[in-house]
Amino acid sequence: MANLKAPDLVLQPVSVTRKMSASLPRLREIAQSKGLKIHHLGAGYPHPEVTDPRGFIEHQNAYFDHLQQVEGLNDPEALPEYLRESFSYGDTLGPRTTREVFAQVYGADWDIDIDIRKLIPTVGATGGINLMCSLAERPGTPVAYITDAPTYAGFTARVSLCQHARIFSVDMDEEGALPDQFRAQILAAREQGYFVPFYYTVPDGHNPAGFSFSQARREALLNIAREEGILIVEDAPYLYINFAPSSARPKPFFAMAPEQTVHLFTGSKIGFPGPRVGFLYSQATLTIADGKTVDLAEMALTEASSDILFQNPAALRGFEALLHDAQFEPISSMWLLAEEKLGVYRENREILLSVLEEKLGQYPEYFSWTRPDAGFFSVFTFRQSSIKTDDSFIESLVAQYGVVAIPMYDFYPADAKARDPDAGLNQLRLSFCFSESKGEARRVDMREAITTFCDAALQLTGLQN
Ligand SMILES: Cc1ncc(COP(=O)(O)O)c(C=O)c1O
Repeated sequence: MANLKAPDLVLQPVSVTRKMSASLPRLREIAQSKGLKIHHLGAGYPHPEVTDPRGFIEHQNAYFDHLQQVEGLNDPEALPEYLRESFSYGDTLGPRTTREVFAQVYGADWDIDIDIRKLIPTVGATGGINLMCSLAERPGTPVAYITDAPTYAGFTARVSLCQHARIFSVDMDEEGALPDQFRAQILAAREQGYFVPFYYTVPDGHNPAGFSFSQARREALLNIAREEGILIVEDAPYLYINFAPSSARPKPFFAMAPEQTVHLFTGSKIGFPGPRVGFLYSQATLTIADGKTVDLAEMALTEASSDILFQNPAALRGFEALLHDAQFEPISSMWLLAEEKLGVYRENREILLSVLEEKLGQYPEYFSWTRPDAGFFSVFTFRQSSIKTDDSFIESLVAQYGVVAIPMYDFYPADAKARDPDAGLNQLRLSFCFSESKGEARRVDMREAITTFCDAALQLTGLQN
């Protein structure tokens, strides 16, 4: 058997969410052998009730028929342009028509003139994260990323692939990352010889922290990013999965400072995750080797052209269909798409928060939880030191109660755990986005899931037998 000697390669640890899904079948069996129903408060997936693609496929076909008619081909054998383009090699920028309509609709929503030459298609937000890391890591010199503690597991997973990259994390309060520590971490990383390209965050519906940053905190962080000369990479999957009244919604960073921000849009939550549609948008410039000033988007484009080379044009044209109404006019706002999804998430969130309040609200010294204004998650905290939300706690939650929840400790970067070895070990991430049922059965399941969780919390803390 051939064996490649690769002494510098390191095996990456498996994330807790992967570990959890791998152990779920076994835990499910144990729970079911005891006659327990499985309650989903773990998965961070869009709900099946709002991701049935059949209506979309019908609309997409009608949109494509419309394009064919507009093209006015007389020869019935002639290949329509949308079809030729969808199955061809194309530009790394993807189809122009998709970028045009996206720029129009998204730009109007956030009151920003989107320049389609700076709009780079990505393979979901995950592809955008990868692109930015790959760009920063290209010179091969030590690189430090600033991010929140806790932070998105997909980001830490990507960073861990680069052995000369390190995370410097910033603790959060209920308004967002702490400004003083934010600056201190940038300076500490630089002092230790690291290049600090950006701060990665999820300011709206933070995954996993379960809240949105306040407007004042965004401004404070933005000022520091400006003063220190680093970019803000804003991962925005939950921008429209928003529960706050429109007057109370803080602004995304890219609407405040497109020249300081790299905005990652994804179609995964507002549309469908499978087609892997996303866009990176930035008006930032970079001063690179030889003191040249270039657009970040241009650097990202060359990075993308050596990475995935050609976008999936069919997926992008499908997304374009989603941005058109039944009369094939561009929709006026993406909030219209969001509204089709929000009904389910609003209801689920309301059930989660009202049952928590009803059952545990009288024990504020024992339990607390976040009230998310956006996103899929609430973070639940056990305030008594007797509870440790480690792997064995999580396993027993499934085996004894059938409740699946995600422990928070794995979302804390290594330096945050060094500051506080117990970081996240009294917290769980409860998600209200997913269940296997629809309609009234979904509401019943959600209520049952959170009620069972509350009973478990009461029993485990000795408040109930
Ligand atoms: C913060 C965050 N970023 C990125 C992603 C992945 O997005 P995509 O499906 O666009 O790759 C998720 C999905 O759960 C997420 O929560």
